[in-house]
Parts: sequence; structure tokens; C-alpha cells
Amino acid sequence: MPSKNHWDKVYATKSSTAVSWYQPHATLSLDLIRRIGAARAAAIIDVGGGTSTLVDDLLAHDYRNLTVLDLSGEALAVARQRLGHAGEGVRWIEGDITSVALPEQAYDVWHDRAVFHFLTDPADRRAYIEQVMRAVKPGGHVIVATFAPDGPTECSGLPVMRYAPDALHAEFGPAFELIEHSDEAHVTPAGGVQHFVYCHCLKPHLALSDGDSHAHW
Ligand SMILES: C[S@@+](CC[C@H](N)C(=O)[O-])C[C@H]1O[C@@H](n2cnc3c(N)ncnc32)[C@H](O)[C@@H]1O
Repeated sequence: MPSKNHWDKVYATKSSTAVSWYQPHATLSLDLIRRIGAARAAAIIDVGGGTSTLVDDLLAHDYRNLTVLDLSGEALAVARQRLGHAGEGVRWIEGDITSVALPEQAYDVWHDRAVFHFLTDPADRRAYIEQVMRAVKPGGHVIVATFAPDGPTECSGLPVMRYAPDALHAEFGPAFELIEHSDEAHVTPAGGVQHFVYCHCLKPHLALSDGDSHAHW
């Protein structure tokens, strides 16, 4: 499990526009969220949002019920400072997604780009999916982006999992409906190319038994 110290140090020592995952605009994430057709008041959480510009793009499109969660308080401070007054209505949560207390059935849209893939321990992935089961509304949308099978084996010097769309969907279990998946060739600030997979799944409406929600467990 990557430590908070690791991430605080990254964000304290590197410009947010120089980290390999930087995007001037989170174009594909924004498109996927807009295609859902969610109301502007829909509750959207960006899990492991770090200093991502997704929150800027969502605010620019009038989404107004936004939460950004990250392990690193340093990252959240950078994003808050960048947004200034525009970020005052955003809820900022510093915490580890595998253990933080989140409100129950609170979110219409759960978005994660490049966080789930750090969970190399099955117990951490199980804890993450339990958070999804608890915090996302029944029938809510779950958008998760990870490195693709031909993506890098490390990110920020840490080992990562790589997923094909079916394997990523399978982590959530067959009760989650895979609505669509997309590929992204992300160009890093240093000019490298990293292949990502984005999966958009629907959380089931009904309460599930453990066996239904966790295909592998
Ligand atoms: C590769 S960065 C991606 C940031 C952002 N999603 C983006 O696309 O720009 C991974 C982020 O996940 C955060 N993170 C790592 N492990 C986490 C955890 N267990 N809980 C919450 N955030 C975590 C890090 O602090 C970092 O901001």
C-alpha cells in the first residue's frame, strides 16, 4: 500500500504540471461523466483526485456537488489554491480510500483515474470495492481508469496492476454492468505515452450477497 508520506513528498517537491499523470484537461473523464447525463446537482466524487484538473472542468460545466478525496493533504492544498474561490463549494477529503469513513449511498458518480491500479494487495482491492458498495447510490455510476495491459508496470516509482477492460470489470463482479470502456494514450509532460483503460460500470440496484459483488473473492 503506497504511503501518505510518499504522496505528500511527491506533491511537495514536484510541480502539479510536471507529474507523469498530469492532464491540462481530463477530457475523457469529463466526456464519460457528461455522457451519463447526470443532473448538475449530481453528487460526484473524484477518488485519489490529487491535483487533477477534472474538478476544474466539472466546475466549468456547472457541476456543483463535487468531492475530491486524496491520501495527500499536500495535493489537495495545491488543487484548492489553484481553484481559489471557485473551489469553495467543493468538499475536500484527506484520507485513504481503503479505510476512510464515507457517507452511505451518497454518490451518483464515482470517478478514479490511476488510483485503483496501485492496489496490488487483494485485501486492499476488496476494501476499495466495499467502499464503492457502501458509498455509491444503488444504480450509481463507477468510472475507473487504470493502466492497460501494455501500460507501464510502475507509476510514481510504485508497482501497479494493469488491466484489460474485462479484468477490470471482473474486479467489481458480474452484478456490476459494464456500460462502456475506452482506451487512452496519455502523453506525459516528458513526452512519453502511457496506455490507460477506462471502464464505466453501473452499480447494481439491489443489495447483493458477498459472492455476487466480488467475483474473485
Ligand atoms: C497517479 S496519481 C493520479 C491523480 C489523479 N487521479 C489524476 O488523474 O491526475 C494517484 C493519486 O492517488 C492518490 N492515492 C494513492 N493511494 C491512495 C489511497 N489509498 N487513497 C486515496 N488516494 C490515494 C495519490 O495521492 C495520488 O494523488
